[in-house]
Amino acid sequence: MSLEWFEQTERYYGRLEPIQFAMSLLTRSLRVTHENLKVRDPRFVATVDRWFASQAERQARVAVPAAPAPPPMFTPFRLRNLVLPNRVVVSPMCQYSAEDGTPNDWHLVHLGSRALGGAGLVITEMTDVSREGRISPGCTGMYKAEHVAAWKRIVDFVHANSPAKIGMQLAHAGRKGSTKKLWEGIDEPLPAGNWPIISASAIPYYPHSQVPTPMGRSDMDTVRDDFVRAARMAEEAGFDLLELHFAHGYLLASFLSPLTNTRADEYGGALANRARYPLEVFDAVRAVWPARKPVSVRISATDWMEGGATPADAVELAKLLKAHGCDIVDVSAGQTVPDQKPVYGRLYQTPFADRVRHEAEMPTMTVGNIASWADVNSIIAAGRADLCVLARAHLYDPYWTRHAAYEQGYELPWPDQYVSVKGFTPRLP
Ligand SMILES: Cc1cc2nc3c(=O)[nH]c(=O)nc-3n(C[C@H](O)[C@H](O)[C@H](O)COP(=O)(O)O)c2cc1C
Repeated sequence: MSLEWFEQTERYYGRLEPIQFAMSLLTRSLRVTHENLKVRDPRFVATVDRWFASQAERQARVAVPAAPAPPPMFTPFRLRNLVLPNRVVVSPMCQYSAEDGTPNDWHLVHLGSRALGGAGLVITEMTDVSREGRISPGCTGMYKAEHVAAWKRIVDFVHANSPAKIGMQLAHAGRKGSTKKLWEGIDEPLPAGNWPIISASAIPYYPHSQVPTPMGRSDMDTVRDDFVRAARMAEEAGFDLLELHFAHGYLLASFLSPLTNTRADEYGGALANRARYPLEVFDAVRAVWPARKPVSVRISATDWMEGGATPADAVELAKLLKAHGCDIVDVSAGQTVPDQKPVYGRLYQTPFADRVRHEAEMPTMTVGNIASWADVNSIIAAGRADLCVLARAHLYDPYWTRHAAYEQGYELPWPDQYVSVKGFTPRLP
């Protein structure tokens, strides 16, 4: 990783200020973090934090204290008129607990407790724009009138009880639809009660999966309009941000990857063609989503597979998204094909977010095996991403962000109901 940094140094020229360039250089191997650098040179880290706080203040257009400056992860970040109170995002996580798409008390508690737990932004699980667009019978949706009220209850709770913002991830499952719940056999076809599935091309996920019907123009119109309807409903429910799911092999991703798109028409072939339909959906959604609210797109920066999408493609895709008015790219990877060869490890997808951020000059979120606040501070301070997205860490500990603040001696306001905890000393390991 250290060697790779030196091979890619020109990426940062003219894009990082010298102090952030130094932070990127120092933390390149992951052995040195924002936290353990304090032991080596506390003055340098204090200078980084002050510099970072001042540029966050300019970017977010809200006051950020300079002395002492907050840890980088606790600085605000602006996307259009949306100001996030900090840089931690709860990643979309399917709960497989809805009935005909309607979220219930489980989703209220799941998302509500993570908002109380201190994250700046909480994103709903992949929420499908039609009944046939669901992964499983338990997936949430935004396609029936009653979904608006059910989601609004959750959005209102988050807004009334925490400074967190809440986004909705909108998707269509494509060839990975009509499958079982996570704990019953992920991506495995339903034994009964299947519905027909569609994709860019007629290529099943597993050899034993249902074969999807390649989308014709009228299917494209229908799905695009479903996304538009869902976006309007999300606005009605009060969501702060939309995230369109262009990743993980679902419907829009199936157009983007050469492994799942073998079309001979204008929607297949070169990346510009493969991106044509996903961008059409993006444009249609952007046109009805309020101009003051941001749209994020989650992408798979690599298919982890020979012949599949590459990080260089991700940069090109991010440039296209930027030109279409996308505000931030949520850089994930893989899950396009079952025989992928991912290289896992700590922060394993962060180099992709770093690359997209600098080469496409586009704000990014990074996700994937981020488990410590030392890493979150390092990533943010070094400019590898603008936001850190946590799935399993915030699943394990709904109060992950709150606990990170406590451990750093940083005060995150408690809800009134919990103020008695101030001054209480939890037992730390
Ligand atoms: C239970 C569970 C459900 C998930 N559901 C979604 C989802 O709905 N949409 C999505 O884009 N990613 C989903 N993911 C992937 C996560 O958002 C995240 O990208 C991945 O877990 C890597 O982050 P982590 O290492 O912090 O867990 C899910 C992951 C888990 C563990």
